[in-house]
Amino acid sequence: MNISDFKIHHIGVAVADIESAAEVYRENGYLCTTPVFDPLQNVNICFAEKPDELRAELLAPADERSPVSDILKKSGGEPEVYHVCYAVSDIDQTISDLRKERWLLVKPPVPAVACGNARVAFLYSKEAGLIELLEEKS
Ligand code: NI
Repeated sequence: MNISDFKIHHIGVAVADIESAAEVYRENGYLCTTPVFDPLQNVNICFAEKPDELRAELLAPADERSPVSDILKKSGGEPEVYHVCYAVSDIDQTISDLRKERWLLVKPPVPAVACGNARVAFLYSKEAGLIELLEEKS
């Protein structure tokens, strides 16, 4: 098992203001979904999509307690790409396999409202950074 076998679903970009970030994507030909509040991550999320292009997830903190708020504090308020999300067919199996390869599970699977309640989880590697897994049922 290797993350290079996985398909990238999106990159996650921390932004301070979701509407102004979405506007820039729209000006560049992306379609942006209506922002959705995710109470589990305490963020507002929208997806910027364009055919044959990598999908970008824009995440803005709903308040100070949001993990995305910490990312923006570290970046000095600048937008920051902070995770790559991979689509997997069996999230529990994939987590178990990655943990054997020294990936740390930082957020166990929870339903993601912005992704049709598909389950997502976050793992961290000191060498490779933060990744998200999204369970996509085929
Ligand atoms: Ni994501």
